[in-house]
Amino acid sequence: MSRMTGKRALITGAASGLGFAIAQKFVDEGGEVFLTDLNEDGARANAETLGAKAMKHDVTSEEDWKAAIKRADEALGGFNVLVNNAGIGAFGSVEDDSFESYKKVVAVDLDSVFLGCKYALGVMKGHAPGSIINISSIAGLLGQAELASYNAAKAGVWLLTKSVALHCAKRRYDIRANSVHPAFIKTPILDGMKEALGIETDEELHKNLARGIPLKCIGEPDDVAYACVYLASDESKFVTGTELKIDGGLSAW
Ligand code: NAI
Repeated sequence: MSRMTGKRALITGAASGLGFAIAQKFVDEGGEVFLTDLNEDGARANAETLGAKAMKHDVTSEEDWKAAIKRADEALGGFNVLVNNAGIGAFGSVEDDSFESYKKVVAVDLDSVFLGCKYALGVMKGHAPGSIINISSIAGLLGQAELASYNAAKAGVWLLTKSVALHCAKRRYDIRANSVHPAFIKTPILDGMKEALGIETDEELHKNLARGIPLKCIGEPDDVAYACVYLASDESKFVTGTELKIDGGLSAW
């Protein structure tokens, strides 16, 4: 498989769920990856299975971003794909959520994407054509009473991505930027929903969530990973500033 030949990617949040699935698909398709995560052991273990390198990286830290970009640049000999994937979930209405929790969600889910785009472009410009993939959420496009901070952060990622796409186009960098908007995908991030909904098993949670999806199932990590291969590769060379929904029809109701 060679859809990702010549593509070298820095992927955040790669110790778990979607980040690891995206990394696996990139490598399966002939790409090279550098993994980062707050969970250093998890990122290193995943990198080992892919023959790749990894490092500890808190995506809310400007200094960590500078270090991660330097290390990825050295490890990969420059990179041309950035996947801003690291993120956290949060439940709470605007009345129930604390300001502290709101600020944390915005820092991890939105500020991180600003920092990643800001600093990665310096390296990516020298290795174009390039692609930035920002993992937002269907909750970045549709509001929900109990997702005040998550809605705010993920909606920010949606329009920030368009601004980055237009900036890169205006400067003729040959770097594209797009956002991805999954609905429920089977990863550990859903554990928080079990608690919030008072559900005990994964199976019960998945069934419960599937009821609200037109396709009557929830997603697998590979559903998102395949989309990222498309957006990272030159197959999508005319696609920038767009939003790709991977939601089983949820937003088509
Ligand atoms: P996950 O919980 O399996 O993985 C998230 C990863 O981000 C973890 O490895 C965690 O250690 C890392 N992380 C958290 N805070 C960090 C920080 N400050 N610095 C660096 N790494 C940090 O969750 P999943 O599902 O793989 O999430 C990936 C992205 O997909 C997130 O942005 C999430 O909001 C988004 N998403 C997930 C959906 C789902 O249903 N699984 C649906 C829509 C969006």
